[in-house]
Amino acid sequence: MAFLLELTLYLLPTSRFARLARKVGADMIEFQNVTKRFPDGSFAVKDFSLVVPSRKVTVFVGSSGAGKTTLLRMINRMVNPTSGKVLIDGEDVAELDPVALRRKIGYVLQATGLLPHRRIIDNVSSVPRLNGVPKKKAREDALTLLDTVGLDRSLADRYPDQLSGGQQQRVGVARALASDPNIMLMDEPFGAVDPIVRLELQEEINRLQRELHKTMVFVTHNIDEAFAIADQVVILKSGGEIAQVGTPEEILSKPVDDFVSTFIGADKGKRTLHLKQGEDGVTVIVDDEGRPAGILGDAE
Ligand SMILES: Nc1ncnc2c1ncn2[C@@H]1O[C@H](COP(=O)(O)OP(=O)(O)OP(=O)(O)O)[C@@H](O)[C@H]1O
Ligand SMILES: [Mg+2]
Repeated sequence: MAFLLELTLYLLPTSRFARLARKVGADMIEFQNVTKRFPDGSFAVKDFSLVVPSRKVTVFVGSSGAGKTTLLRMINRMVNPTSGKVLIDGEDVAELDPVALRRKIGYVLQATGLLPHRRIIDNVSSVPRLNGVPKKKAREDALTLLDTVGLDRSLADRYPDQLSGGQQQRVGVARALASDPNIMLMDEPFGAVDPIVRLELQEEINRLQRELHKTMVFVTHNIDEAFAIADQVVILKSGGEIAQVGTPEEILSKPVDDFVSTFIGADKGKRTLHLKQGEDGVTVIVDDEGRPAGILGDAE
């Protein structure tokens, strides 16, 4: 059924696509020639165009200052473009009420953004409460969400600083999921945790995505993280210039230029990466010596 819908949407011409997408709430995001210029004349993003497909994970990866956060925040209108448009299912976000828009889009911040003086359960239920969900129901839902992100319910009455960094990140994800958004924006959500916890959280995102099918836009510096969770990877140069867009397989097997080759090898020294089919249908990324460098996330 989902496949048929996907196929129908794919075959339709763009304008009808937009209309149908709006009707079924496909939650496709489109950047059209978006520029963000600051008063001093500098640019965060210049003439950026991209389709973020619905119900897939798109990862923006690039070095510091490339414009990743700016692009993400243009989706929920925390930043407005100087020119160009951001569309959700064909609708210009500039015409939508920013508060309503933000409440229906999940947003996970690098620093988790948890309210320090409120208990975990109240942090998770804060947006549903703002949306008018009765307290008892919001609390019950919040407990279920703790299960969803793999946290023990006994943590519900603690305060954020009584949790480990990885647990706090999970609370951040639970809170972003609380209003059951179709779109999730995640800005370096796992930047502050150690590599082992980071891998666990990446697996958690893959598991959640298999169940929940959100349109997810995820920002990271870390190319291995991008390959582990993305359906679509967008490698950015400064000014939001796209160096390459593709599936992890496409980027790994056919980097378009030296910039991309260097970028995908940068954190482990110069390396050539190959794909290898592992056991259980898992695709493993291996380096020249056959050492595993990572695993590709599940494609649909
Ligand atoms: N309000 C502002 N005024 C001037 N320049 C800004 C402003 N906000 C952001 N910038 C600049 O825009 C560029 C892009 O910033 P952005 O935060 O989007 O980068 P990023 O890719 O998220 O970086 P990081 O990986 O460090 O988080 C940077 O050069 C930044 O200094
Ligand atoms: Mg940023």
